[in-house]
Amino acid sequence: MPCNGDGAGFLDAERTVVSNVQGSSSATRIRLAMKIESLPSDWISTPCDALILSVDENWKGKEDLGRLNASTSDWLFSVLQRGDVPTKPNRVTLLHAPAGSPAPLIALVGTGARGKAPVDTPFRAAASALRAVMTRNRSTVRIVGIAASPQEERAAVAGAVAACSGQDLFRSEKSTFAPDILQFAAYHPRQVEIGQVVGQSIQLVKRLVNLPPNYLYPETFVDEAISVSQEAGFGIEVWDLQRLQKERCGALLGVARGSVRPPRLVIARYQGTDSNLPSIALVGKGVTFDSGGYSIKPNDGMLGMKADMAGAATVLGIIRAASLLKLKPPIVGVMGLVENLISGDAFKLGDVLTARSGKTIEIHNTDAEGRLVLADCLNVALDYRPNKIVDFATLTGACVVALGNDVVGLMTNDPPWQKEIQSAADGCGEYTWPLPMFPFYSEQIAGKVADIKNVGEGRWGGAITAAKFLEEFVGTTPWTHLDIAGPAYTESSKPWGDAGGTGAMVRSMVELLMK
Ligand code: BES
Ligand code: MN
Ligand code: ZN
Repeated sequence: MPCNGDGAGFLDAERTVVSNVQGSSSATRIRLAMKIESLPSDWISTPCDALILSVDENWKGKEDLGRLNASTSDWLFSVLQRGDVPTKPNRVTLLHAPAGSPAPLIALVGTGARGKAPVDTPFRAAASALRAVMTRNRSTVRIVGIAASPQEERAAVAGAVAACSGQDLFRSEKSTFAPDILQFAAYHPRQVEIGQVVGQSIQLVKRLVNLPPNYLYPETFVDEAISVSQEAGFGIEVWDLQRLQKERCGALLGVARGSVRPPRLVIARYQGTDSNLPSIALVGKGVTFDSGGYSIKPNDGMLGMKADMAGAATVLGIIRAASLLKLKPPIVGVMGLVENLISGDAFKLGDVLTARSGKTIEIHNTDAEGRLVLADCLNVALDYRPNKIVDFATLTGACVVALGNDVVGLMTNDPPWQKEIQSAADGCGEYTWPLPMFPFYSEQIAGKVADIKNVGEGRWGGAITAAKFLEEFVGTTPWTHLDIAGPAYTESSKPWGDAGGTGAMVRSMVELLMK
């Protein structure tokens, strides 16, 4: 846990922290006590505490189910024959098993019809099954089946691992219990390794998003980022207030002015294992709390705004996975960390800010702060001459209006790059959809007293005018903007996940970087 949130120490001397610890695995906040293993094929005679198997419409032909049926003297098939075990994707049935079963508890999870079930099924089915057996402490949980390809194997492992943590970080009595040992029968060890790293990175993102804003603010996000960089072995540089001033990050600093907690900018660098490959910049919005500033949000709109740093957390999670899995492309991550609050010194409507790029920005709404933070982060990313840029941001409510809670909005200056991201997401069942970027939208952000203003004319097309604003700061570099305002956080729990942070887009981006 980061230090508590009473604010003590926020006036500590500003400092620039540079650390570049390679390959260490020292204690870290995010390491799981849980052990994850791929079990060689003898899953039927080795005891465990809970056994998870998948059932689809074609259960009669499934060898795994046949083996359990044989060892339980036809008990399993007699249950399935009765027809009250649903085979719909992600539906879980708990059964108390008779003698002959390796575990007293059997969880049967539906995976639908092979080839017809949605692509997200392996991830969600594994997660749903695990959540169903986590109601009390079960030391060894074993998963059999669910996946039918290497990609499905790593998805199922990631789903199971990600499901092990929820939003109850501060609840004294836990209601879910992660297993001590999680086994995957007959899964390929490399796929288990990939799935584990990705699942833990999703857990990291979820945890950072779920941490309350009195615990997670720019300085404590930095502490987390440093410890992740040490665990995963990538380089990290932190810009403090003085450095941000020296670098003339006027847009980010404008937003930060309302808070007593000083802002930070984190640059993470993973060198990759093939320096000939195109390099990628990942840029993340890290507003650790968004009150709206003087354009203040109503209570209901403000309540979830600890999650407004999900973009920065996503960037950290992706780089962690890339580094631990030794993926090929070089990556630079830029995370802009600020709180958007109100004070006697906060930025005001009508203020003109000068971004690091030199562009001047007229403030028409202090609640359109994410694009200001990103303007400077994108400009810093350009210093590294990346071949491609992608940014992650809980940027607009308008994107949620357009696409709903579960779909990431994609906007780009380079359709092939956007297509690459969308295909990777399609391949693992994360939901993304493009919004148009016609040049005329830019007319809406023309400034009256400065170069540009930070909102469009009225609210229509708000996700796109926000993207058009960002486009002003990427030059000619291929860039895609991911508005994750909907999918990054969920108000309600699902069979495959607790409410709160979701870790959306970590899996898709790791799949893309593995290509
Ligand atoms: N962080 C919000 C966007 C948001 C809204 C994220 C709901 C997640 C859920 C962002 O900073 C914001 O306030 N955007 C404004 C922009 C407007 C003032 C042009 C919005 O969407 O209303
Ligand atoms: Mn805002
Ligand atoms: Zn915001």
